[in-house]
Parts: sequence; C-alpha cells; structure tokens
Amino acid sequence: MEKVIGIDLGTTNSCVAVVENGSAVVIANRGGYKTTPSMVAMTEAGKRLVGHLAKRQAITNAENTIYSAKRLIGRKWNSPQVTQVSQTASYNIVEGPHGDVRIMLRDKAHSVPEISAMVLAEMKLIAEEYLGQEVSKAVVTVPAYFNDNQRQATKDAGAIAGLDVIRIINEPTAAALAYGFGRNIDRTVAVYDLGGGTFDVSILEIGASGVFKVISTAGDTFLGGEDFDARVINWLVEGFKTEHGLDLRRDRMALQRLKDASEKAKIELSAVREVEINLPFIMSSGRNEALHLQRTLSRAEFERLTADLVERTVAIMKQALDDAGLQASDVEDVVLVGGMTRMPLVERSVAEFFGREPSKGVHPDEVVAVGAGIQGAALMEGASPQQKVVLLDVTPQTLGMMVAGGLMEPLIPKDTTVPTSRTKAFTTSRDNQTAVKILVMQGEAEQASENELLGEFILTGLRRAPAGMVEIEVTFEINADGIVSVHAKDLETGKEQSITVTASSGLTKEEIAAMIDQGKNFALERKKDEEFEGLRQEAEGLVHEVERLFDKVARVVGGSDYGRDALEKAQGVIERARLAIDRRDVAALKEQVDALSRTLRMFKGVVAKG
Ligand SMILES: Nc1ncnc2c1ncn2[C@@H]1O[C@H](COP(=O)(O)OP(=O)(O)OP(=O)(O)O)[C@@H](O)[C@H]1O
Ligand SMILES: [Mg+2]
Repeated sequence: MEKVIGIDLGTTNSCVAVVENGSAVVIANRGGYKTTPSMVAMTEAGKRLVGHLAKRQAITNAENTIYSAKRLIGRKWNSPQVTQVSQTASYNIVEGPHGDVRIMLRDKAHSVPEISAMVLAEMKLIAEEYLGQEVSKAVVTVPAYFNDNQRQATKDAGAIAGLDVIRIINEPTAAALAYGFGRNIDRTVAVYDLGGGTFDVSILEIGASGVFKVISTAGDTFLGGEDFDARVINWLVEGFKTEHGLDLRRDRMALQRLKDASEKAKIELSAVREVEINLPFIMSSGRNEALHLQRTLSRAEFERLTADLVERTVAIMKQALDDAGLQASDVEDVVLVGGMTRMPLVERSVAEFFGREPSKGVHPDEVVAVGAGIQGAALMEGASPQQKVVLLDVTPQTLGMMVAGGLMEPLIPKDTTVPTSRTKAFTTSRDNQTAVKILVMQGEAEQASENELLGEFILTGLRRAPAGMVEIEVTFEINADGIVSVHAKDLETGKEQSITVTASSGLTKEEIAAMIDQGKNFALERKKDEEFEGLRQEAEGLVHEVERLFDKVARVVGGSDYGRDALEKAQGVIERARLAIDRRDVAALKEQVDALSRTLRMFKGVVAKG
C-alpha cells in the first residue's frame, strides 16, 4: 500500500518519518543520521550535492553551497530580511522576474522553491530507500507563523521535488501531535520551537478523544540559531579588527570558517562553560604573514551576546498566552522543540516563564517529522480508526485587504480556526466601472503597506451601470494548509468573476512545470549516478582480482599462443573497463563488468589446474 511520508523541512536540518505497523519511524539517511543538513551545493564539475555531502565541502566551496534557503522562501526581494541575507550569506542572491529571490549556484540562478525542492527530493529518496518503494505523497511542515506566500512557495517546492504535498501542517502542531498522540491525555500545552532559522510558539488543548486544538500561535520567521551564530561571528570579527585592523568579512572562505566555528562554539557552550575558538591561518596580513584567530568564549559572555534574542522569544511567548486568554500557570506542560532549546539560557527562560520544568519526553530534532508522519498516516486512504486524528489549527496572521486611506481592513482575524472563509460584498463606486481591484494582505499592522501583500486581485468584466448598482460578492478562504484563495461572484447575474493575480511573487504554473521537469532529470541522473557507483566498485574489485592472478596465469599458460592471447584479451578488458569508468559510461561499464567476471572465472580455472 502507498505510504504517506512526513517531512520536517528545516532551516538547518530536515527529517523524514513514516508510520509503520502503527508506530512512527524516523528514517536514517545512508550515513546513518536521522537528520540531514538542509544544504545544497554545486561542485566545480557541475555535480549537485545535497545534505551531508554538501555540508562537508561548504568551507572550500563557500560561494556555491546554499544553506538556510528557508529564510528566503516566499519572501520578496525588497524585504529587509532578504537584504540582510544578501549582506551576510556566503552565496549570491539576485532579484527574480517576479520581484522574488533567486539563488546563484555556479552561474545559474535558481528560485528558492527549487533549492528547497532539492532538499525535499533528498528526503523523498531517503524514505524510498528505506521503504523499498516509490513515494509520491507527503505531509510537509512549515513554521506556524509562515504567511500565505511562504506556504505557497513551500508547496511549490514539494511539486518541483515530485511530491504531492497532501497537507501542510504547522511545526509546533506537528510536535504536539507527536507528543500527545495515542496517550489519551487531556491538557493544555505550550510548544516552544526555536530552530535554526525560525521561532514559533503555539498553545494547544489536547483532548482525550484525540482532538488537537490550537488556541493561539505566535512567532517570528526570522529568528533562530542563525542569529545566535551571527552574534558570535560578529564578536570574532570585531575582535579581529581591533587586534589586526583587518575585516574578515571580506573573505568568503574565512567567513564560512567563522560561521562553522561559531556554530560549533555555540553548541559546545550548551554543555561546557568555556570554549576555545581556534582558526589558524584565517587571513594573510598582506605582508606575507599568516594571521591566526584564537579566542576564548565563556558561556556567560555568549549569553550576554544573545540575551536580547532570547528575550524576543519570551515576549512572543507572552503574546501567544495573552491571545489564548490564559495565564502561564494554566499551561500544564511545556514541550521544547528545535536544536536551540538545548541552550541552557533558553531552557531556563522558558522554565522561569511558565514556572515549571519543560517536558523531557520528546526528541527536539525529530518530533516535528514524527508528527508529520502521524498526520500523513491519518490522511491515508483506508487509515484505521486508531490512526485518525483531529487537528484544529489556526491561521497565524490576520487576513485583510487595503481600503481607502491605505488602511488594513481585517477579514479573518489571526487565531481563527482553519479551514474558514469570509464573504464580503463590494459595490462599484464609479459610473460604468468595469473593474475592481482588491489588495489582499496578511499581518497585524493598521497601515496596509506594512503588512505582507499576498496578491492583487482584479475583478474584470463588470456590467456597465451607474455607481453603486453593481454588487459583487467576494469570498476569502483559508484552507487546512493555511493557504488563501479568493473567489468573486456577481450577485445579480450569479456569474463567477474572473480574477487575476498580478502582484504575487510566486512562481507561475509554467515555471513550476519546467522546474518539475528539471527535478525529474536530476532524480534520473542521481539514479544513474548510483548505478554507476555500484558498477564502478564492482569493476574495480574485479580488476584487482584479475591483476592479482595475472602473474600466476602467465606462469602457467604464458608459453602458449593460446595463453598469450588470453592474457592480452584480459588486459584489453581491463583497459576498456577503466575507460568506461573515466567516461562514466554506464552501458559500456556493464559490458566490461561481465567480461571481467568471465576473465576472472577463466583465470581461476587456470590457476586451479596449474
Ligand atoms: N546543543 C546545542 N546547543 C545549542 N544550539 C544547538 C545545539 N544543537 C543544535 N543547535 C542549534 O539548533 C539549530 C538547529 O535546530 P533545528 O535542527 O531544530 O532547526 P531546523 O528545524 O532546521 O530550523 P527551523 O525549525 O527554524 O526551520 C542550529 O542553529 C544549531 O546550531
Ligand atoms: Mg525545526
């Protein structure tokens, strides 16, 4: 039967899980790791690397190694977050044709969904290898605070990866699901998820009947481990500047080494009180002399450098609690999710805020994928009653539209349970007006322009009539994925109005179709690569064996014409095998592997007789 996998597409790490025989399994990749770095790289030879392979070469190939693409997904080129990434990332980003972001890999610009798709395709492959069957359906998680553009872009990424994303669920909700599923509990819980790039907090009521109801959610999709690393990088760069008067940021490789060392130091400081950061030969002084970086960072100093970041998460936590109309003491259990919650200051701050120690039962790196896997199994055709879950999630940000004076008129307030819809009637304001423009926005600001523009919807083909005589009903809908759609109807004629979206930064259908094709090519190439690797190993093993027996065979039969001929032929086979390896020619290599096997059999026969 077809399986639905659950994928946690993280900023730093991704994880895939699937339910088997009623329980969720987190699937390890080839290297045996249960999480895979969300990194993509292109080597000089044009080979694409994903996951650990990409991470391993990040320092030497900094410009062509993409990390944290999730911080860019669904964002507009002119947003402050994109500006920040463009100033600090070791790779290059450029403006795309829709005012979107494109990431450079070697000399090709890729959309962000394409980069995320490469990670998703890798997770798909990891699942397929484990399950021994093709996988086409997935539940993919996103930060609860992701807006419509970010959700839509994530869904596009799934499509490009050849996955039918049957549901998008929120990361904290997935974590709550993994925490509470099948435990028959009835309590109010808070999920605090601080990952590599994003922060979410959700307050939920888990009911004994298997109902998971989100009461409120709040977050910041640009706050996470990356920002903690950046503080350490900054501290190191400034220190170096003071000492040597040189700016390490000028050098991409140095920057990548700093990033690597800063993250390592941060992680170590969760366990020890002091770390030494040592980066020999980080830069040249310009006078033919290599400069080294060596500094000691204490946990206290690190906490001072990042205290405001932790405070921001506390303020957001307060917001979520207020929105839920609850006191901290009403929360009966606190679930910590995300690698950053291992930082002692984070754990301490959350414990202090709620006045209780967080729950220790869940694995912070894996729960989100587990929850997605459980949801996937529940959505599968023929799911058993025990597999069923009821998830009642909310929309994280207010949906509204721009009205006169540039103000935002809310249509669907934040924390409304989804799916949901609101209908609103519009009348024409001018005589013979044939079109109405609606700007749909998401966010909490009163000024519409400060919120995220989801799209410009233009209703066209209205009847010519005096002002106020044409009435159109517009329905704004948010589905279970948290994705927005808009439909309109002419009330008098009952005719559906055509709507064109003109201001979305998303990809067009044609672009997605082209990217899906490229994704397929890559999957094929990868399969071919794997086949080649297998054959190469087999061929090299056979060549080794044949060569090992060569002298013995020569001694036994080398005196005869027949023997000399056989030895020559064997040498020819070896040469052709090597050529096929050099040319990465799978078909030719297959032939030579067969020929080598025959040669080896013959050699063994000769040696046995001789
Ligand atoms: N022991 C540790 N102490 C402090 N930080 C840690 C520790 N282990 C991992 N981290 C940090 O946690 C972050 C990664 O967490 P995680 O894998 O949960 O993020 P993610 O799911 O990829 O990101 P997001 O959920 O924001 O999209 C990284 O910044 C990493 O440096
Ligand atoms: Mg995460």
